[in-house]
Amino acid sequence: MLENPVLDPKRIPRHVAIIMDGNGRWAKQRNLPRIMGHKAGTESVKDIVRTARELNLEVLTLYAFSTENWKRPSMEVQGIMALLKTYLKSELQSMLQNDISLRCIGETDKLPADIQKILNEVIQKTALKTGDKPSLVLNLALSYGSRAEIVRAASIMAEKCVSGQFDPEDFSEQLFASHLYTVGLPDPDLLIRSGGEARLSNFLLWQLSYAELYITETMWPDFKGDNLIEAIRNYQDRERRFGQTSEQLQAE
Ligand code: IPE
Ligand code: IPE
Ligand code: MG
Repeated sequence: MLENPVLDPKRIPRHVAIIMDGNGRWAKQRNLPRIMGHKAGTESVKDIVRTARELNLEVLTLYAFSTENWKRPSMEVQGIMALLKTYLKSELQSMLQNDISLRCIGETDKLPADIQKILNEVIQKTALKTGDKPSLVLNLALSYGSRAEIVRAASIMAEKCVSGQFDPEDFSEQLFASHLYTVGLPDPDLLIRSGGEARLSNFLLWQLSYAELYITETMWPDFKGDNLIEAIRNYQDRERRFGQTSEQLQAE
């Protein structure tokens, strides 16, 4: 555990999700090509993963590539895929050393074959034996879109009804959530978005229902461990009421 007087170790969020935005603008401000912003962004990813582990988060979900991002110029898409490949290759050792378990959410079958291969390899190698708890689950959202995820879950559930595995009356929030990519993960407690935009951009619409939102003007390549600590400090100042009143919570 990081010695950190500003944070209450008993109220560390279990799951932090991040919309890593602002790479392009960061590059533009420096008269660099957009891809250099993405490259600098991977350094922030490394720093944030290290800090998340030191802070004892259970899950860190990073929005790395959305279903909508496929519409970007193909040069940029190819550049991002190349950076992803380099990242996965170079970080495998450190993930193994630090008990970090990689997971992935999204339509990964749409990713280039070489990325799928290395992704599966890293996921398999960093998967812990049943019963063992990883020090951190690093969950990458790749070719991820929340509406597509919800439609997919609905379709799987409909098929299960047709085949008699369960009936429409059995539907519950819990059953539905177990058909999402995030099955088994707690919902995010805190959503961070860098780059200053106040929108969700099709990210975890179901799972973020009660997350605390933290938007910072800092562009992703400038977002480092101290910024994560500041976001969590801000989170710890809030009262999560889940529909109840402040007085009710204090009485509990
Ligand atoms: C986020 O940065 C990274 C990806 C979407 C892959 P952007 O590339 O969206 O950066 P801005 O928003 O244009 O600055
Ligand atoms: C969201 O950022 C997706 C990722 C960070 C991967 P975008 O830059 O794609 O979002 P919009 O287009 O501004 O909503
Ligand atoms: Mg953007």
